[in-house]
Amino acid sequence: MSDIKFKEPPVELEQSQPVLIHEKSLSQKIAHGSAAGDILDQQMNMLGIQLVTQLNVLIKTSRIYERTNTALDKPVDAMLTLIKTMAHDQPVILRLQNDFLFLGDSHLKVTAQQMAVATSIIDALNAWMIGGITFSLTVESKDLREFAALFAGLDRNNKTVEDLRKEIILRGIAGITLEEQRQLHVQEETGTAGNERFGAGGDKGPDDTENGALKVLRKMRAKTGYAKVAGSVGTLTQSARGGGTVSFKQAKRAIQNIIDLIVEDEATVLGLTTLRCHDQYTHNHSVNVSLLSITLANHIGFSKVELADLGLAALFHDMGKSDIPMEVLNKPCEFTDEDWVAMRQHPTTGILNLSKMRGIMNIPGRMAAASFEHHMNLDFSGYPKLTVPWTLSLTGRILTITDCYDAMTSSRVYRREPMSPAKVLNMMLSKSGKTFDAVLLKMFVNCVGIIPIGSLVMLETSELAVVLKPSADKANAERPFVRVITDPQGNQVDHGREVDLTEKDETGDFRHNIIRLIDNTEYKFDTSRYFI
Ligand SMILES: [Fe+2]
Ligand SMILES: [Fe+2]
Repeated sequence: MSDIKFKEPPVELEQSQPVLIHEKSLSQKIAHGSAAGDILDQQMNMLGIQLVTQLNVLIKTSRIYERTNTALDKPVDAMLTLIKTMAHDQPVILRLQNDFLFLGDSHLKVTAQQMAVATSIIDALNAWMIGGITFSLTVESKDLREFAALFAGLDRNNKTVEDLRKEIILRGIAGITLEEQRQLHVQEETGTAGNERFGAGGDKGPDDTENGALKVLRKMRAKTGYAKVAGSVGTLTQSARGGGTVSFKQAKRAIQNIIDLIVEDEATVLGLTTLRCHDQYTHNHSVNVSLLSITLANHIGFSKVELADLGLAALFHDMGKSDIPMEVLNKPCEFTDEDWVAMRQHPTTGILNLSKMRGIMNIPGRMAAASFEHHMNLDFSGYPKLTVPWTLSLTGRILTITDCYDAMTSSRVYRREPMSPAKVLNMMLSKSGKTFDAVLLKMFVNCVGIIPIGSLVMLETSELAVVLKPSADKANAERPFVRVITDPQGNQVDHGREVDLTEKDETGDFRHNIIRLIDNTEYKFDTSRYFI
């Protein structure tokens, strides 16, 4: 028996029947237009989560029962259906990259409720240092059963992923292959593999390897920090929804951790905010708003203590939404007038909900302001409407900017379609001095860049690149730091080179130029994987 820990009680084995409500051929749904693409994205995500769930059930069941036992029928059949539904021209690949699950190249968006199952699979894959499992269309029931038995039965303390691979061949398991973990590979070879991971373009100095290793470490710390904050918001939101009491201690600790990272290397942390979630009421939005607010306040010059206060306040700015039914929050269509009445109350309800929480004797001013003022707007054109004169706090003005930016760039927070970061920034700049505080907005643009982090651009070589961080040179703000992600023909490249667009050649001309901004939302391109 392996010592991989699964978080849910064994009773779970009985449930998790997949709900296959979609059509057999999903690819037929990608007709034209973004609505069809949206449906496909959502359904693929949903199917991906189901695959993870069933795989989890299968492995757990295999620890108890023999491979031929009927207890394995349900998860095996469900997995086969899922694989056959998803795999068309190519196999289904479940990947793990820095503790985030991917279905092929798309980040699997996990809700707070699905977190336990996802974590269980992440832990299991991590224990074996598996970076990905490929299921091909030809996979059969016996293959899945044998694979699960192998996975559950082999002692990982004495065996490596290579042994697992050999066993797969020896036992004649067809249609399932394993990928190694890239990240851990780099970690083991710290000092020699930095270049491989971060691209070996000629854009670096002599101390490349050391920088590369340092970057990997920072990224891992940032990612862990993000996951911790997200976890604590998930728990708090759930218990607020369930009417229970919650403690802020965990969130406080997580925020303090992340502040150290932001002060040290804000681009890495900001990159994580590009992990967008399709589910409207997931905690990513709150975490992103918190990270963006801390970064902006750090530019303003807040002390670490003030940053922590603000970060925590931002984390719980939408606490009032826990009173709104999930059906309303997750509505795929426009809100009704009634829904809007409920929505408009969430800034006020938020304060009431916060006051009920354990660990809060009196609600700190910043927390109350964050909840109460974040939809008011600088010119009070938003809500709630007040009949008494009011002065917006700095926290409120910061939150108005960061909340709007994240809500608009993510999908489905008040609107169905996400917008590209650059479009959102343009829209926000058009409301500078009206909805948003002009000075703060300018500083915010400095944080995320004129061409914001996560944007997709085409270089004059016809290669596509993703913006990793704003330009260090304010005079050339339109020349960010990017990573090349495709060749000139548009084929995706792994570990593409990083390019500083402010770099000049011997004649004093810029070495690389952007020829156009690509709308990543229009192309359904998920750039988040390049940040983790
Ligand atoms: Fe809100
Ligand atoms: Fe919000």
